[in-house]
Formats: sequence, C-alpha cells, structure tokens
Amino acid sequence: MVDKQLLQAFDAELAQENLEGHWVRGLTEEDKVPYTKDPHTFVLPHLWKWEVIHRHLRRAGEMHGLEGMAERRTLRLINPAFQKLDSRRRRSTTHTVHMSVQLLKPGELASSHRHNFGAFRFIVEGRGAYTVVEGEKFVMEPGDLILNPPMTWHGHGNDAEPIIWLDGLDYPLLNSLQVITWEPYPGDFQPVKESFKSAAYRVGMARPVWETAAGPLAYKWEDTYRTLKGLEGGEGSPFDGVALEYVNPVDGGHTFPTMSCGIQMLRGGDATQTHRHNSSTVYHAFRGSGVTVIDGKRYEWEKGDCFVVPLWSWHSHQNRSKNGEAILFSMNDRPMLEALKLYREEPGEMGRL
Ligand SMILES: [Fe+2]
Ligand SMILES: [Fe+2]
Repeated sequence: MVDKQLLQAFDAELAQENLEGHWVRGLTEEDKVPYTKDPHTFVLPHLWKWEVIHRHLRRAGEMHGLEGMAERRTLRLINPAFQKLDSRRRRSTTHTVHMSVQLLKPGELASSHRHNFGAFRFIVEGRGAYTVVEGEKFVMEPGDLILNPPMTWHGHGNDAEPIIWLDGLDYPLLNSLQVITWEPYPGDFQPVKESFKSAAYRVGMARPVWETAAGPLAYKWEDTYRTLKGLEGGEGSPFDGVALEYVNPVDGGHTFPTMSCGIQMLRGGDATQTHRHNSSTVYHAFRGSGVTVIDGKRYEWEKGDCFVVPLWSWHSHQNRSKNGEAILFSMNDRPMLEALKLYREEPGEMGRL
C-alpha cells in the first residue's frame, strides 16, 4: 500500500524539477477521460440557426464605429466546447477548422493581407462584390466557392449590394502547431491585374499546362450545380447522397492539403445510411431543409443553418421534402488525417440512427 502523503510530497518534488511520474492522474475533465479503442473528442455537435446569425451580422453592419475595429466584419461560429478557452484557442468551430460568416457592405474595401492558414469563401447571399487573390479579381455570386491558398494576398471589395459569405479556415490546426504567419499588404489594397484564372479551369478535365500548383481559383455555382444535376439519376453515396468534393485541378487531390470542401444533394425523399469517421465536418444548408441525426439526436436544419458533426459521431442525413432537393455545403479536415495515415471510417449497422 502506497503512503499517500509520501507520494504527494514526491509528486510535488518531481513537479518542481519539471518531471512527472506516469502514475499521476490529471485534474481537468480532459485528463480524466481514459484512453479507449474509440477516439474521444471534446468537440460538441451544434447547430446555428441562420436567422440568428443573419440578425446579429446585420446588427454588426449597422453599428457605427465598428469599422476599423476588426480586419473583417465576421461572426465566428464557436464550438460550445471551446467557449471558456482563451481567445486564440476559442476561435474554433472544430478542433481543426474554423467557419465564420462575413458581411461586406456596398462601398467597403477589406484591406489585403496574407497568412499561412488556407482559406475559402462560399458565397451565400448577394452578388456583384469581388475578392482579389494574388491580383486576380473574382466576382462573387451565390454558390461560388473561391479558394485562397496559404500565403496568397487577398482583399475584398464591394461596389454592388450587401453580400454575405462563409469563410473557412484551417486556422485552429495551424494555431495548435504554433506556426501562424500573418502580414498586411504594403499599401493597404493590392492592385488588380488582368484576370484570367476564373476561366482557366472552367472546362473540368482540361488544365493549363503551365500551371504547376493550384493558386487562387473559383468554382462557379452554375458548373457545380450542373454536375450535381447530371448525377441526380445515379446511385450516389449511401452515406452522403449525390456528393462531390471540390478537387485541386492541378493534381486531382483534395481542395487543400489540410482541409476539403464538399457539396452534396439530397434528392426528394433521400435518407442516407449511418456512418462515422475520425474527420470532423462543418455543414451549411445551402438549399432546402432536412434532418441530420448525430449520435441519435436529431438536428433539424433549413436554408442557411450551419452545424458541426464531431469526429467519430454516428451520423446520417435526411431531406425533409419528398419532392424538392436539399443541398449541403461542407468543409472537413480529412486531407490532414489522410496525409498522416490516421484516417478511419466505419459504416453503421443498417437501420441504426
Ligand atoms: Fe485573410
Ligand atoms: Fe460523414
């Protein structure tokens, strides 16, 4: 039998030397969870209603004096599990990726900067504003996905109507690796050069031969939607319906080395089978309404809502409409897990919720 008092004194002595015995149990909730065959995550499933996001974003837009207080007018989707962390670690929708919603009003310019975390914009509402990435000007329209690869200069401008888009970042992953680099563009807004990138990859299988790395890039909604509709009559994925990944057009790989973007159509009456994987996903309901069951709990979503499916949670999706389609845009951290040879996936038993 160990003398508890002696052991405590010994542990305290070790701690003074920055040493610790393997027998020491932690005090935090995280430390108390034992290792098991199944991975354990502290990321919580959560759904943000679009009405709430939209109302608060509009309020931020109307608030005088907020200009200049932040680089961008965005609302971050903070996972409830991270609310109590310090500000940099809190800025996370899952432990690896971050989604926020941005509003740019007519006449506004969001200054140029660059960073080593990758980013994308998925346009939700409004049209005619633009983003400039490495001097290429991309006009933003609903449903467009615009990539902003690491270390590419980017700024946004709007001389049309109010516009709202989703920003997706792998910031939490890079922050946990403590490798963040960020710098402002000298002279505030980068000049626009003659643009051609938007046209370069429009034809699917054709790649300009002089392109050796995927740079700034836009996937136009009309192309994405045409592809989804073209596959509508096919089988689709048992777990995701008619689902597409936005691929890197240069090497055919994932959207980014660290994260991937997807779009999926649940046809009228579609209900997918259940599965789980150790990648985490953040969804945005772009069209229609439905239900996603996460570990047995129903999350009902409609157009604009955003929600998180944490890693290793059983999940399935249902379209609430019998006739109309529902479309989900999503981001996940699967490429990073695959690169590290850590990715795992399991199908559920048929009939499991
Ligand atoms: Fe940025
Ligand atoms: Fe899944």
